[in-house]
Amino acid sequence: MKNDDLLVILNALVEPVFLVSAKRQITLANSAAEELFGESQIGKDFVYAIRNPDALKCIEAVLQGQAAAEAVISLPVPVRATYKLSSVHLEGGDGVQAEAVVSLHDISHVLEAEQMRSDFVANVSHELRSPLTALSGGIETLKGAAKNDPAARERFLDIMEREASRMTRLIGDLLSLSRVEVNEHVRPSERVNVLAVVEKVVDALETQSKAEKKPIKLQSSKGDWNVPGDQDQLTQIFQNLIDNALKYSRENSKVMVSLTRRDKVVGMTGPALVVEVKDQGEGIPAEHIPRLTERFYRVDDSRSREKGGTGLGLAIVKHILNRHRGRLLIESEKGKGSTFIVCLPLDAAVQ
Ligand SMILES: Nc1ncnc2c1ncn2[C@@H]1O[C@H](COP(=O)(O)OP(=O)(O)OP(=O)(O)O)[C@@H](O)[C@H]1O
Ligand SMILES: [Mg+2]
Repeated sequence: MKNDDLLVILNALVEPVFLVSAKRQITLANSAAEELFGESQIGKDFVYAIRNPDALKCIEAVLQGQAAAEAVISLPVPVRATYKLSSVHLEGGDGVQAEAVVSLHDISHVLEAEQMRSDFVANVSHELRSPLTALSGGIETLKGAAKNDPAARERFLDIMEREASRMTRLIGDLLSLSRVEVNEHVRPSERVNVLAVVEKVVDALETQSKAEKKPIKLQSSKGDWNVPGDQDQLTQIFQNLIDNALKYSRENSKVMVSLTRRDKVVGMTGPALVVEVKDQGEGIPAEHIPRLTERFYRVDDSRSREKGGTGLGLAIVKHILNRHRGRLLIESEKGKGSTFIVCLPLDAAVQ
């Protein structure tokens, strides 16, 4: 087979492939390799194409007769990525002037997923450990120092009750998150009246709103507020957003919830129902906004914990919106407040 014919085949592969001669010269590079490492690699020493000591060791081993060798290498350009480099000795490859075939497989996303999984386990363990420590501490005190002290006993029982309910909430949120993830790819089939859902959530939060002196104002014009959706999940979205607005705003400030329709929303095709939840809190610094929907991400860790938050609320909101093919936009101005904007497609057929 001629080099040209071979190149046609190698160019059809999505992964970068090099052929390397016995003198370590590159004799052929497919278009994926040229795209990644630049054109005109032919004739150059392989060392100059991939500047990495492990890659070099790998290729040397194969050129000296080893059947195959592998290495995991990180390359900083053009974007930082990690590859599995495989080098295979070419038997009877005289016609193509090559002694070895080197291919690269991008494994960055696999490593990222592994990292996310282990971060998640570490986060969950950490989140569970603090209420557990408080509970064990409480039990120890009740058995010892506070045994015959009714006032101290009451105080510790209160703390233990709070910590136990924190664990219950955390586990409830984790289960909820995994349930949402499981059916994220199944489109909801009911039709749900979003105004009715929001009204119910506002009613349910009435006591909290009164206690914190933060009235909730709901605004909507007349109209059809039905969208294809899952009623319980939509309830969860507004429950968290309005609860956040109440939790993270000043006393005597208002929480405004409004429903409107928009013909066009960035990133969505077709008209959308837009629900805005606006508070008059201290706002969220811009650098935090893109990370708010990450699991356990909190702007002010101690404040959120003190309010009983698990830091999973917005992660759940994001996954529910993914399932509904909707979007969450966050706008915030320091000192003035934040607005969380939920956009839901009005028509399932267009999406
Ligand atoms: N309206 C808001 N104003 C200011 N900060 C907010 C607002 N909403 C959310 N945040 C910040 O985003 C973080 C993540 O919110 P999220 O709803 O995911 O978690 P949480 O409210 O702390 O816990 P949970 O919702 O599980 O009770 C919060 O800890 C808070 O720092
Ligand atoms: Mg929340």
